[in-house]
Amino acid sequence: MSLTFLITAGPTQEPLDPVRYLSNYSSGKMGYALARAALQRGHRVILITGPTALVPPKGARVIRVTTAGEMYRQVMRHYKKAHVIFKVAAVADYRPAKVSKQKIKKTKKNETLKLVRNPDILKALGRKVKKNQILVGFAAETKNGLVNAKKKLSEKKCDWIILNQVNQKGIGFNSDTNQVTLLSQKGQIWPLKRATKKRLAGQILTKILSTP
Ligand code: PMT
Repeated sequence: MSLTFLITAGPTQEPLDPVRYLSNYSSGKMGYALARAALQRGHRVILITGPTALVPPKGARVIRVTTAGEMYRQVMRHYKKAHVIFKVAAVADYRPAKVSKQKIKKTKKNETLKLVRNPDILKALGRKVKKNQILVGFAAETKNGLVNAKKKLSEKKCDWIILNQVNQKGIGFNSDTNQVTLLSQKGQIWPLKRATKKRLAGQILTKILSTP
């Protein structure tokens, strides 16, 4: 059966002035690998992507966004069509409170940057998705991985959380390999061996689509 996947990938960029922004090290590789794996299995993919240097997989409907606010609006516009939603994007939790129209000039003093919260897209989806939709979040953790991932699974009300312990070499942001543990709302914990993101994407899809 051909399904529709909504996949978010890459970082968001939160502008500070015309030449600066806040962001993170996400390359988009994990999200794009999942998109490619879904397409190869004959599914449809809506890929909502933050700025990356990657070429999107052929056949995906690609929606490019820059900020968390834009990603939120596009996800809310499209999520109803999806059977499976993967929130792989590394969304900035905060954005500068003020975006200066002009380049901010340096002064002689130290400066403090005021930040305001961005919407939590996964949490909002957790409240909205229907029972027949599968909602999968990621958790990028640097300590207490399992504890924090379980907390995200319950607070954000997703069916699965995929934990990556991103402070280890070759895992998480901007590497070609990853090591993930899948945690389900039903209490399953399924660690996968470190492998390429391409290989892991296939294993993740198989597990999630074959679990009733
Ligand atoms: O892109 P790569 O270089 O391949 O790296 C892959 C990855 C490390 C980015 C990916 O595997 C990953 O872990 N993605 C989630 C990164 C993240 O933001 O994790 P988090 O633990 O801060 O967020 C938890 C979940 O909430 C995520 O599904 C995130 O998309 C979502 N979220 C977070 C904040 C926010 N404001 N809105 C959200 O929807």
